Amino acid sequence: MDTSARKEQEYIRAIEGEDEILDPEIIKRGEVLISYSDCAECHKTDKRAKGPAFRDIAKRYPTTSAYLDLLARKVISGGTGSWGSPVMLPHPDLNEEDARAMVSYILSLEE
Ligand code: HEC
Repeated sequence: MDTSARKEQEYIRAIEGEDEILDPEIIKRGEVLISYSDCAECHKTDKRAKGPAFRDIAKRYPTTSAYLDLLARKVISGGTGSWGSPVMLPHPDLNEEDARAMVSYILSLEE
């Protein structure tokens, strides 16, 4: 494996797990909610910015209910340390259902 492939693997740290099928309506709603929120200030779909690329997040996490909950709570509370030292600001005005829809959209970006 060449250095860049190994670097990518160490950055993504993909977690094993069986993907669940997501409701396309919820994915669509998540995409719309993201477009109305501040996410794009720090996230791009394919490129690392201040925050990790959405597609890299999709590569790491299996699409399961448990990870959707975990990531939705992280979007609401903010945090750092999973992808390096930059900090995600909290989004206390988001409810869990909307945050979960946003995360459903993000995890749906894996190919
Ligand atoms: C101020 C910049 C910033 C904004 C705004 C922001 N993020 Fe983040 N986001 C980050 C950073 C930095 C990380 C990496 C945090 C870490 O390493 O734990 C991150 C991580 C994530 C993760 C992965 C969390 C994990 O533990 O792996 C998700 C999902 C996410 N963001 C979704 C969103 C969504 C949805 C929005 C909009 C509601 C948003 N972010 C807005 C900076 C931001």
